[in-house]
Amino acid sequence: MPDHTAVRPLGLSFDRVSHGYDIGKTVLPVLEDVTLDIQPGEFVALLGPSGCGKSTLLRLAAGLEVPVRGRVSGDGTPITAPGPDRILVFQDATLFPWRTVRGNVEAGPEARGELAAKRARVDEALALVGLETFGEAFPHQLSGGMAQRAAIARALVNDPRLLLLDEPLGKLDSLTRLNLQKDLVRLWQARGFTAILVTHDVEEALLLADRVILFSPRPARIVQEVRVDSPHPRRRDDPALIAMRSALLANLGVLEDV
Ligand SMILES: Nc1ncnc2c1ncn2[C@@H]1O[C@H](COP(=O)(O)OP(=O)(O)OP(=O)(O)O)[C@@H](O)[C@H]1O
Ligand SMILES: [Mg+2]
Repeated sequence: MPDHTAVRPLGLSFDRVSHGYDIGKTVLPVLEDVTLDIQPGEFVALLGPSGCGKSTLLRLAAGLEVPVRGRVSGDGTPITAPGPDRILVFQDATLFPWRTVRGNVEAGPEARGELAAKRARVDEALALVGLETFGEAFPHQLSGGMAQRAAIARALVNDPRLLLLDEPLGKLDSLTRLNLQKDLVRLWQARGFTAILVTHDVEEALLLADRVILFSPRPARIVQEVRVDSPHPRRRDDPALIAMRSALLANLGVLEDV
């Protein structure tokens, strides 16, 4: 992987962040006093019950929302608006159906008037995710896994310093999922961005991340942090990972019968 594509990763801080949504006459509390420091280049996975506030936390990091209390900052500067250095990839690939794969990847640079300068980078992003021969295909001609890889290429072409992944592999079959997990680690190692991955899959979190954060039911508070030191590539039968998996599942309220 050419090294010139490496980025300067963003350090991210949540400082006593609480957030909620106005629903009619009341405010629904969603995050409660979350303090979390993520180092530049770190890969962090977020786990927690459905509806607890994980996507909300990513939206705050992306600058799509501003917290009701506390502060979210990137390299010490408050995050108050979206920016091309912080990119969110959703569970559904959300590609523009009327554009080709290449057209989708070009969308960000084009919107910033940088397309002429970035053409080589578009090719490189397609190659990074193994879609170099599908540039002229339309989204409806792709498999679910290919669409998700196209969405990741569309994010990577902007050289994000922070990549926010909201269950990007959630809807894929298990084989495609295993391959894309390996791809994500490879891309993260090659490009050096900071990564935050929301997942419901404890094993996926432990296979990919440097640190796994477990949240309570809504309003989300941090209930457990696990540091994963095993080098990549990791093995799912690594006894250290199996022990961490049991501890996380117990805290999620899942009892193992094996
Ligand atoms: N724009 C909004 N307006 C009102 N309530 C919202 C809004 N967005 C999210 N919520 C509520 O905030 C809570 C947290 O939502 P969020 O999407 O952050 O959860 P999540 O942890 O990502 O859940 P899941 O695992 O199911 O994706 C939910 O109760 C949801 O209904
Ligand atoms: Mg969510």
